[in-house]
Amino acid sequence: MALAKTYPAASSLPNGDCGRPRARPGGNRVTMVLGAQWGDEGKGKVVDLLAQDADIVCRCQGGNNAGHTVVVDSVEYDFHLLPSGIINPNVTAFIGNGVVIHLPGLFEEAEKNVQKGKGLEGWEKRLIISDRAHIVFDFHQAADDIEGELQKLKGYMERIKPMVRDGVYFLYEALHGPPKKILVEGANAALLDIDFGTYPFVTSSNCTVGGVCTGLGMPPQNVGEVYGVVKAYTTRVGIGAFPTEQENEIGELLQTRGREFGVTTGRKRRCGWLDLVLLKYAHMINGFTALALTKLDILDMFTEIKVGVAYKLDGEIIPHIPANQEVLNKVEVQYKTLPGWKTDISNARAFKELPVNAQNYVCFVEDELQIPVKWIGVGKSRESMIQLF
Ligand code: GTP
Repeated sequence: MALAKTYPAASSLPNGDCGRPRARPGGNRVTMVLGAQWGDEGKGKVVDLLAQDADIVCRCQGGNNAGHTVVVDSVEYDFHLLPSGIINPNVTAFIGNGVVIHLPGLFEEAEKNVQKGKGLEGWEKRLIISDRAHIVFDFHQAADDIEGELQKLKGYMERIKPMVRDGVYFLYEALHGPPKKILVEGANAALLDIDFGTYPFVTSSNCTVGGVCTGLGMPPQNVGEVYGVVKAYTTRVGIGAFPTEQENEIGELLQTRGREFGVTTGRKRRCGWLDLVLLKYAHMINGFTALALTKLDILDMFTEIKVGVAYKLDGEIIPHIPANQEVLNKVEVQYKTLPGWKTDISNARAFKELPVNAQNYVCFVEDELQIPVKWIGVGKSRESMIQLF
C-alpha cells in the first residue's frame, strides 16, 4: 500500500526532521473575568461591558448557586446559570463541561429574564451546552413525586437537545477558526475556590484561572487577559474567617449603602475594609493582567477609609495567607488609613472627574498590588464604569 505522503530520508536531515509539525501557535486568546475576593464583586457588570463586542461568552464552572445582576436600560436581569453575556443578541453563549446544570432552574431563569426585557429573545438558538456538563437533580422532590418528575425531565430533555454539542470540539473550532472575541465569565471567586479558598467555607469548583481550562477543555496557551474584579471594600456571605470585617457601624453603612444582600439567597453579606493581603494572594494564583475596581461610590460617605495591608501573627508580619481557618481567624490586620472624599462620585465618567482622594485611593491599590486598574465602578448602570485605558 502506498503512503499518502513521501518523506525524505530522515537521516539526511538535521535532527531527523522530516517535516515535523510545529506546535500550533495558540489561536484566539480568551479574555476572562474572575472574582478576586469572596464573590459578589460585580463581575456581571464587567462581563456585560465586555460582552457588548464579544462573539462567544462562556461559563466554565459553578452552578445556579452563583448570581450576577446586570442592569441594562434600567432593567435588572438576574443570572445564575446562563452566561449573562447572552443579553447581547450577537453573542453565542456556551455552558462548558465544568458547570453543574439544574434543568428547571435554567429554563425558569431564562423565562424570567425574557419577561423583564428584550435582551434574551431567541436565547434558545444562541445557547450551546457541552455534552460533558453535569446535571443536578432534585432527588428529594423526585422521591416524593417520581412519575411526574420524570415527565417534567423528559420535557426539559427535549428542549435542551438542540443546544447540546461536543463542547471540546465547539471551543477548539472557535479558538482556531477566524479571529473571534471569546469571553469567560467566572462565577464565585478566588477565596471560594475549592483548593485555594478559605476552606472549608468554599464552593465545589475551581473559580481561579485553572478552572477555566478544565471547565471548558481549553489549553493554557489560549489564556489571554485575566481581569480580576475587586470590590472597593470586602464582603462575605455566611460564616468563615474575615480578617478586615467591621462588625460595627462602618460594616452596617457598607451593607446598607452597598445593598449587600445575596442575589440567590437574599442573605445579608458581612462587610469590611478592602484587604490587599487577600488580593495579593488571589493575584499569585490568577496572574491578573488588570483589575476592575467596583462600587467605589459606596465609599463616598466616609471621612477616613482603611485598607488592610499586612497580617501579623503572634506579633510578627507574615508573608502568606494561613491555609488553616483557625489561624486566619487570629491574624491581626495592619491598616493604612486614607482620607475619604465625602463627595457623590456616581456621575463621574472619567478619572479626572473623580475627587483627588478617590483618585489616590485607586492609585494606592494599583501601587500596592502592582496591577493596573482598567475600570472603576461608580454606580449600577452600564455607563457608570470609568475606563482608564
Ligand atoms: P457573583 O457571581 O455571585 O459573585 O456575582 P457578581 O460578582 O456579578 O456580583 P452581584 O451581581 O451579586 O453584585 C453586584 C451588585 O453590585 C449588583 O447589584 C450590581 O448592579 C452592583 N454593582 C456593580 N458595580 C457597581 C458599582 O460600581 N457601584 C454600585 N453602586 N453598584 C454596583
